[in-house]
Amino acid sequence: MLSNNLEKLLNTQMNNEFHAEYTYLAMAAYFHKLDLDGIANYFHVQANEERAHALKIFQFLLSKGGTVVLKNIEAPSADFKGTIDVFERALEQEKLVTKTINSLMDIAIKENDHAVHSFLRWYVDEQVEEEALATKNLSRIKLTEGKGQGLLIVDQELSKRITADDSHK
Ligand code: FEO
Repeated sequence: MLSNNLEKLLNTQMNNEFHAEYTYLAMAAYFHKLDLDGIANYFHVQANEERAHALKIFQFLLSKGGTVVLKNIEAPSADFKGTIDVFERALEQEKLVTKTINSLMDIAIKENDHAVHSFLRWYVDEQVEEEALATKNLSRIKLTEGKGQGLLIVDQELSKRITADDSHK
């Protein structure tokens, strides 16, 4: 049985993950407009993963006898100032998700809810990977100065990214 507080916070986190999906879709659209479809592909994969993260919470809420409460998803900002800016914002977003997951974990520990604690460990580990990947991509895009042949090489590399998580298993 979930506490009302954890049920509410898990629903909020589910909404955060759907918002992250939206944000990555906005980033994919930005790169499609630049004809950098490989980088757009990378952000599509990220968006798919965020949706999977949201649905994992959806399933968990139900299996714990909780209620899924779907709320409005805030529109993502799309006023990107260039290719580097997009990758900077992607990293910022991951840091924000890490922060909200950690806060949720703090509350699960405080309430001594072992099931939620165990469930959230997957997200804690996932965020380590997500932040590392976002940091690496930002460094590489900065090396290209956000333009030219370097950008085309990154585009080619990121075109190969495929969904590789087990979050929907
Ligand atoms: Fe679901 Fe990238 O955090």
